[in-house]
Amino acid sequence: MKILISRPLPGGAAEFLLGKGYELRVLEEGRSKEKFFEAFCEADGVIPLLSDFLDAKIIESASSLRAISNFAVGFNNIDLRTCTKLGIPVTNTPDVLTDATADLTMTLILMAMRRIPEAMKFLADGKFAGWKPDLLLGKDLRGKNLGIIGMGRIGKALAGRAEAFGMHILYHTKSGSKPEIHYPHVSMETLLAESDVVSLHLPLTDRTHHLLGPTQIAQMKTGAVLVNTCRGPVLDESAVSEALEKGKLFYGGFDVYENEPMVHSNLLKLPNVILLPHIGSATVETRSAMGMTAAKSLDEALSGRRPSTTVNPDVYDTPAWKSREKKQ
Ligand code: GLV
Repeated sequence: MKILISRPLPGGAAEFLLGKGYELRVLEEGRSKEKFFEAFCEADGVIPLLSDFLDAKIIESASSLRAISNFAVGFNNIDLRTCTKLGIPVTNTPDVLTDATADLTMTLILMAMRRIPEAMKFLADGKFAGWKPDLLLGKDLRGKNLGIIGMGRIGKALAGRAEAFGMHILYHTKSGSKPEIHYPHVSMETLLAESDVVSLHLPLTDRTHHLLGPTQIAQMKTGAVLVNTCRGPVLDESAVSEALEKGKLFYGGFDVYENEPMVHSNLLKLPNVILLPHIGSATVETRSAMGMTAAKSLDEALSGRRPSTTVNPDVYDTPAWKSREKKQ
């Protein structure tokens, strides 16, 4: 069976799949969309990146395709409905990137509260002329409220870290309070009104697109910090940059963007932002583990098993999947 890997991956994913007897095609960085499309249409299994947009048209064109194993925890880049209809399981890489992403989110919160970008620029510009009682005063974390929107694996991992810094946690999820979580669950309005720092940890769907726009930002505390390490389109970037410019928001810390890899031109001009190039899970250990998770899930799916990482488990009830597995 033929497997397409969108780009060379860190760690032993390719070796693992070769060892299982698959024929591999690994595309190089800089390859065209056409090249990807051509290779995609010939593959039985694919490991795409979150930047490979797999819409209904491309999925329907791949007649031998039997499984997709996304090299990411988010899977908004894949048309799941089409995959399910065609009996194609889609998997992701949960758990292995939870700590790295929570660490990066905590870094953004610390950098924002302590105004690190301004401090670094101040020094680099040669303006540091000695210690001053009022130089670049930031905000303490201890005693401040951290509002977490979306309390999944990464939200929980962030809560533990922030608690260690003395922050009070409150959270909101669309499904309501989770019995295993001891932090207060509040409405979105309350979270926005009471949080000194708001951090987003939810998947991008039609329902979460522009979850925070002008109305929600107006409900936030003046001087709050806003952090986003999930998916860019969850925020209305124009509204956010305006709020940062006018001082409604104290600081923004962003790892993801609405039109990635493009960054809103207004954001780029602001002194009170930290802008990172989508590196939430970017550690050697985590990216290697993501590669192995993706490779193992793909092997399981192509062997007719049901990987625990399947994000469209309904697929296993479809006539399309059942008839394909019977033919195996
Ligand atoms: C990264 O953004 C991921 O979804 O894994």
